[in-house]
This record gives sequence, structure tokens and C-alpha cells, in this order.
Amino acid sequence: MDGNVGSAENINIPSVLAESGPGHSNARGEQANPFDQLAAPSTSRVKQIWAIGGGKGGVGKSLIASSLAITLARTGNKVIAIDLDLGGANLHTALGVDMPRNTLSDFFTRRVNHVEKCVTPTGIMNLDIISGAQDSVGVANVGHDEKVRLLQNLRELDADYLILDLGAGTTYNTLDFFLYADLGMITLLPEPTSIENGYRFIKSAYYRRLSLCRRLDNIRPLIESAMDSKNPAGIRSPSDLFREVNKVSPEAGMRLKEEIERFRPKLVVNQARTQTDVDIGFSVKTVCKKYFGIDMDYVGYLDYDSAVWQAVRRKRPLLQEFPNSKLVSSLERIVQYLVKRHGHQKNDIL
Ligand SMILES: Nc1ncnc2c1ncn2[C@@H]1O[C@H](COP(=O)(O)OP(=O)(O)OP(=O)(O)O)[C@@H](O)[C@H]1O
Ligand SMILES: [Mg+2]
Repeated sequence: MDGNVGSAENINIPSVLAESGPGHSNARGEQANPFDQLAAPSTSRVKQIWAIGGGKGGVGKSLIASSLAITLARTGNKVIAIDLDLGGANLHTALGVDMPRNTLSDFFTRRVNHVEKCVTPTGIMNLDIISGAQDSVGVANVGHDEKVRLLQNLRELDADYLILDLGAGTTYNTLDFFLYADLGMITLLPEPTSIENGYRFIKSAYYRRLSLCRRLDNIRPLIESAMDSKNPAGIRSPSDLFREVNKVSPEAGMRLKEEIERFRPKLVVNQARTQTDVDIGFSVKTVCKKYFGIDMDYVGYLDYDSAVWQAVRRKRPLLQEFPNSKLVSSLERIVQYLVKRHGHQKNDIL
């Protein structure tokens, strides 16, 4: 379980961080840079895109995405919640609506020419949904061109906020949706498998981000070899990568450091039952700082609450079924913090 990053300080690092990453791909071209081909929309109403990921299934991504979307809509923002859990789409259920007629399946198969044709009202004021693919269009099957087309369309939508509910796993497509957002949030449960997958997701997003960053073009081969845990250069950790980059060019080392500092994912621990569970968020933050050099922003935790499955069973949003629950106030607090603290943050990978 433990390892040594080779830095001056001996720290315990979960073994999952020594694995190769990011994840795997089934689709041709999925690894190619989707951001290279994006044109900035001339005018965009979209203030921010938020993405909720987590690497593992059943950790509360859809609960959190739907709740953040409702909370933002209630405060007067026009919001579109978008289900990017392609193949396992159920955000509509978390929002208490039936599967809309047009979904991302229609977009990916070009039955509709713009994603705006998939925008469907939820019945909740200010909140629309774009539902995920209904048939077997798994996220790994979405090719590069379709991904670029979707990303290009997103910022052209008529909304203040877009909330992306991501699927489980660390495919390049899921990582790219996460990295495209202005604000990326990771959620995990206080259990070993979920924490492990959380680290796997962070690590994959971290290396994917560096490998897509144009400012780091001249050291991309080194970054890509760092993603293979058996690389011949002996790069086993971010500190090894630094050492190798600095050997090539101290100036590139500076740029690498700057890019790492700009990557600040948010973290939410879900289904906390004890203080030890709550503290897991701080441990993850510490490991991320020591291992990757990134400042993970631990924005809060959500208690385990049977209100969630009761709302799920009734196919009603938690915020509407149990508006006075502690969980709902925790969610509202998280949204207030994010808007206040990160309301102007823009994606800087493009
Ligand atoms: N804070 C909580 N308290 C109690 N139960 C919860 C909580 N959060 C989530 N759950 C339970 O976990 C289930 C999974 O949540 P959710 O569907 O939001 O996860 P997910 O990460 O989107 O899963 P998937 O990857 O399958 O889409 C919910 O149906 C609910 O029963
Ligand atoms: Mg989900």
C-alpha cells in the first residue's frame, strides 16, 4: 500500500498512484486532443460549466449534479443539467422527469444537428435537461469528431450554468468532459474501493490535463511516458517527471509547475457517517498535494441520509422531497461557496 515518491520527505502514497494512467479507450482517436479544434464561440451566455466525476459508479455523482443544478436554478440562474453518463443515463430520474424524446443518442447519430435540440424542460423553474444516450452508446464509443462537436455546441447553449453529470471510469472521453469544465468536482465515498477509484480519477485527469496543455507541447513525450508506469526513463511519480523535465529545460519545468498549480479540482466526500469519514477528505487533499503538487479544494461533505433513497424510490429530486433536511443545507452551502469563491473561474486548458 505504501510507496515513496523519492522526494526529500518520506510520505505514504496509496499504491494506486503508481499505476499507469489514464484509462483505456475503445474508440479510435479518443486520445487525440479535442481542445485543439475548438473555436471560441463569438458570444456565449454560459457563465460556467461544472462537471461532477468520481471514477466509480454509485458514489453520488447524479445526486450531486442534480442537486447543484436545482440549487443554482432556484437562485435565478438559467441552468441546463447534462447527462454525460452515456450508456447509464439516469440524471432525468434524479430530476424527477421521464426520459426526454430527444437525447444525446440523437445528437451522436446526427438525427439532430445541434445539442440545443435535446434541451428539454424539467418542470423546475429555470432548469432544463439534456438527457444521456438511451441505447448502447457508451462513452467509450463516442468518437473524437462527435466529442469535439458536442464540446463546441455546449458553450453555444442558452444558459448561465451547465452541469455535467459524468459516468464512472477514466476513459479519455470522460476525462475530457471533466477537463473541459470551468470547475471540476470529484466525489467519493469513505470506503477503500471508492477512495482508490477517486485517486485513479485524479491521477488520470492530472496527466491527461498536462498532456493536452499547449504550453507543454515540447515536453509532451516526457509527460506521455510518465503515464506508463513501466516507462524506460524511470519516471514513477510527478516528482520524477519534474526532475526529468528540468534536465531538459528549467524553463519548461517552470511552466509545468504553473500548469500543475492551475489544476484545482474540488472534492466532496459523500455518505459520511463519522468524523473519520469527514477527515478522509483532508487526507486525500494532503496526498494530492504531496504526490502531485496540486491544491485539491475540499469543498465539503454530505452525510449519509436515508432521505436520498426515499427520494430516489419516489423518483423525485431530494431538494423537492426533503427541502428541510441537513443534506439539502449542506448542498446549498457547497453551491454558495463555489459561486462566491470560484464564480469567475474560467477553463484555462483551452
Ligand atoms: N448522501 C447519501 N445518503 C444516502 N444514500 C445516498 C447518498 N448519496 C447517494 N446515495 C445512494 O447511492 C445511490 C447512487 O447515487 P447516484 O446515482 O447519485 O450515484 P452515481 O455516482 O451517479 O452512480 P452511477 O455511476 O451509477 O451513475 C443513490 O441512489 C442513493 O441510493
Ligand atoms: Mg449517475
